[in-house]
Amino acid sequence: MVNLTLNGLEITVEKGTTLLEAAKFYGIEIPTLCYDEALSPYGACRLCLVEIGSPGRSKLVTSCTYPVVEGLIVRTHTDKVIKTRKLILELYLATCPSSKTIQENIM
Ligand code: FES
Repeated sequence: MVNLTLNGLEITVEKGTTLLEAAKFYGIEIPTLCYDEALSPYGACRLCLVEIGSPGRSKLVTSCTYPVVEGLIVRTHTDKVIKTRKLILELYLATCPSSKTIQENIM
């Protein structure tokens, strides 16, 4: 078992769990586009970004591919995360302006 902090909550999950799976298990919703439980995650769309590490020493990682690590601090909805997800969606929308999936995510 692995202990970590998710949005300020001390949680425990099985080793090998991804950050996305841990968040889902604890009822925290993270947007995804390329993730499908039936497939191996490959981190292509970047929409599932979360911030890991302590403030001032943090970085963004894709939660669908990043495994839980003992003592890790994870934040799923910081300003940095929200702004980056929004930018990614805007870039997708510019590339595929008629995509209903992207339009629904951006609303
Ligand atoms: S869901 Fe697409 S990169 Fe994680």
